[in-house]
Amino acid sequence: MTAAQLTAGRAGPLKGRVRAPGDKSISHRALILGALASGETAVEGLLEGEDVLRTAAAMRAFGAEVEQLAAGRWRVTGRGGFAEPADVIDCGNAGTGVRLILGAAAGFDLAVTFTGDESLRGRPMRRVLKPLGEMGATWISRSGGRLPLTLQGGALSFVAYRLPEPSAQVKSAVLLAGLSADGGAEVIEPEATRDHTERMLRAFGAGVEVIHEIRERRIVLPGNQRLTGTRVQVPGDPSSAAFPLVAALITPGSEVTVEGVLLNPLRTGLLETLREMGAELTLANVREASGEQVGDVTARHSELRGVVVPPERAPSMIDEYPILAVAAAFAEGPTVMRGLGELRVKESDRIALMAAGLAACGVAVEEEPEGFTVVGAARANPGVAGGARVTTHGDHRIAMSHLVLGLASEAPVSVDQPGMIATSFPGFVELMRSLGGQIEPSTPERSERGERVG
Ligand code: S3P
Repeated sequence: MTAAQLTAGRAGPLKGRVRAPGDKSISHRALILGALASGETAVEGLLEGEDVLRTAAAMRAFGAEVEQLAAGRWRVTGRGGFAEPADVIDCGNAGTGVRLILGAAAGFDLAVTFTGDESLRGRPMRRVLKPLGEMGATWISRSGGRLPLTLQGGALSFVAYRLPEPSAQVKSAVLLAGLSADGGAEVIEPEATRDHTERMLRAFGAGVEVIHEIRERRIVLPGNQRLTGTRVQVPGDPSSAAFPLVAALITPGSEVTVEGVLLNPLRTGLLETLREMGAELTLANVREASGEQVGDVTARHSELRGVVVPPERAPSMIDEYPILAVAAAFAEGPTVMRGLGELRVKESDRIALMAAGLAACGVAVEEEPEGFTVVGAARANPGVAGGARVTTHGDHRIAMSHLVLGLASEAPVSVDQPGMIATSFPGFVELMRSLGGQIEPSTPERSERGERVG
C-alpha cells in the first residue's frame, strides 16, 4: 500500500467469512527454532508480514536455509546453531524479532550488530540485555540500551531470572539463550504470558518443565539441548482477528466469522472482555493444530456496555487494548483499562495515541499514567463523531483500530502511514472490503479540510 493515507467510512453491515493471517508470535518462533534446529522444519500458514519476513532474512544471515515453497508454506533447514552474519541484522519494526533473536544468538561465539526502524530504535532492549548479561553475553549499545547494538555471544551459564515486567519476549529470549547455556535457564513469571516458546520448544524435542505455583509460574529448561526440525502449523492470529470481529460488533446488522483463530487461553483476554461487555461471540469447529487450540469465531452486532477490565488480564490481551478502546467508544458507559504501563513502550506509546485519536474522533477519554478510561457514546445522539485524521506514528495497530472506528462513526476517519499495516496484517484492507467495509486510499489535502487532527 503506497497511499499517503487511508480513509474508512460508513457502508452497510459487514457480512462474511474470512481467515485471519497467521499468528505473528508463532511465526517468528517457527523460523527461529527451525534455524536453531538440525534438519528440516515445514511451516504451514506462516504470517508473511514485514516483521516476520525480517526474521526470515535474519535466519538466512545466521546460516539457515529459509525458503518459501508457496503462499504461507515455508521450509527452514537449520544447521543446529548460528553462524556469524556477514552484515548488520535489520529487524525493521519487530520487537519480537529482535528480542528473540538476541536471545537465540547469545549462546554462540559470534559478534552481531542489530538495528531496526525508527520505532524499534527507540524501544527498550535492556530488558533482554540484562538477563543475557547475567548469563555471560556482552554488548555495546546506544544510550539507554537502545538499537543499534552489537552483541558478543559465547559460552553462557545458568540463570534463574524473575521477570520484572510481564513479557513473553524477555521470557523467550532467556529460554532461547538457555538452550546453549551450561545448566540451561529458569524463568519465573509472576503473571503468565503467552507460552508459545515453551510449547514450541517441546515440539522441537527440548525438555521444558512448567511448574505452576500459587503466585508464579516457573519455566525450567535443562542446558545443552538439541532441537530437531519438525512441522509447525501456524494458527490465525487472534490479535489480527480482533479487527474484523470488533468491526462487526460495532456496525449495525453485521455478522462476521473469522476462521481458524488461535484460542490459547493466554491470548483470549479480548474475547473474554468483549463477552463481559455483552458481545455476541460464538465459537465453532474448535480443534487442535500443532498443540494449540483453534476455532472459528463469529461476531454479531451487539449492544455493548462499559466494563472495568481486570488489570491482571493485561498479558493475555496486551496487543488488543487499542481495538478494545474502539469497542468501548461504541459501548454504553465507561470502560476502565488499567495496569497497562507496557502499552507505552510498544511500537508506539499506545495509551497516548489512542487517547489522542479517540478524542479527535469526539470520544471522551481520560488518560492515566498506566491506563485509560473510554466513555462510550452508545446513548449519545449523534454517536461517535469520527471525522478526524489520525497520526499513527507508524503503528500498525493504531492505524487498523482507527480505520475500524471509521467504519461505524458518523464521519469518515483517515490514518497516516497506512503502509505499516503490512507489518502484522498484509491484506487487511482487502479483507475488510470483502466483508463490505469501506476503506479507500485518500490524500491528506482532500480529507484535512475542516477535520480535527489526532
Ligand atoms: C509478543 C509478546 C508481547 C506482544 C508482542 C508479541 C511475543 O510483547 O506485545 O506483540 O511474541 O512474545 P511483550 O513481551 O513485550 O509483552
